[in-house]
Amino acid sequence: MKELSPIFLSGNGTSRSIECPVIQSPLAGVSDQIFRKFVRRWSPNALLFTEMVNAKSLESGHGEEKVIELSEEIGPIGVQLFDHRPDSMIDAAIKAESSGAFLIDINMGCPVKKIARKGGGSALLKDPKLAQLIVKKVSQAISIPVTVKIRLGWCEATSDPISFALGLQDAGAQLITVHGRTRRQGFSGNANWKAISKIKESLDIPLIANGDIKNSRDAIKCLEITKADGVMIGRASMGAPWLIGQIDEEIKNKKTFRTPDAKMKVNLSLEHLKLLVSKKGNHGLLIARKHMNWTCRGFQGASTLRHKLVRASTPDEAIKLLEDALNKYD
Ligand SMILES: Cc1cc2nc3c(=O)[nH]c(=O)nc-3n(C[C@H](O)[C@H](O)[C@H](O)COP(=O)(O)O)c2cc1C
Repeated sequence: MKELSPIFLSGNGTSRSIECPVIQSPLAGVSDQIFRKFVRRWSPNALLFTEMVNAKSLESGHGEEKVIELSEEIGPIGVQLFDHRPDSMIDAAIKAESSGAFLIDINMGCPVKKIARKGGGSALLKDPKLAQLIVKKVSQAISIPVTVKIRLGWCEATSDPISFALGLQDAGAQLITVHGRTRRQGFSGNANWKAISKIKESLDIPLIANGDIKNSRDAIKCLEITKADGVMIGRASMGAPWLIGQIDEEIKNKKTFRTPDAKMKVNLSLEHLKLLVSKKGNHGLLIARKHMNWTCRGFQGASTLRHKLVRASTPDEAIKLLEDALNKYD
């Protein structure tokens, strides 16, 4: 694997340096402020992302909770925006920049029908001219770098990811992240790292490889195949906020990383639940359920604990279950 160096992005006045080659992917419904706080515990300088933010709603004053107080968070946080209207994207990008975004990422990969049907997310893969216009206009309107997250194309028959990525580079994108699947593939099959390598060969700007990286072995293999400048981790980090830090440490070969044990995982779930409940009241329990279900795995008694947690009907009930479990691991 080639030696990885910090990634330098020159914005339209404000340049940025990404020090850590392992990046946390934007995850709708997951990568909120509380999740990022946990990821940060193990990854002090990694680039993290907000969940994707609807530019139109941000422009009209909704969805602001996703981008507020970014400057109060430690370390670099990118804001990911989606829409197909250049003017909405410009307004939203200006708002996000003033909230402390480290960079603005434009979503051109989201397969969700509700979004793609209107022309946003992965639908932009079918409209290179509009995709370029959005990148150009947003880059001109803000001073921080603009990056884009794409898939390999809409479907295999029509996709030309190299031309598409080159067009984005010409339009002013400072970095491109590629999820190695087409929109039609959804999450099926394997991510095509070889196809990502072809895009990397053609671009002058840095490229981040994404798709199916679950541990440092995968990350090293992906970096070898793609020659990418870094990797982005999505699903494998859900319930495992230590993973970005773990992969970073292991690929740099600094020291062996101690994966959290049962006690740490239960403690983490308890902390996560309490933070969500203190922020969102009883609704916090509903959000916490999926996180607890992902985190409480891989130790004795985990499946019974998960079974009980999912049935807890109040935050106090869930807190008691976790506290009782903690006593077992003392
Ligand atoms: C629950 C969930 C939410 C996601 N939300 C976003 C999002 O908001 N923006 C985005 O660009 N990709 C989103 N993705 C895609 C991931 O960022 C990533 O590209 C994809 O999962 C492939 O990487 P992985 O194999 O490491 O998960 C989401 C994926 C999942 C499973």
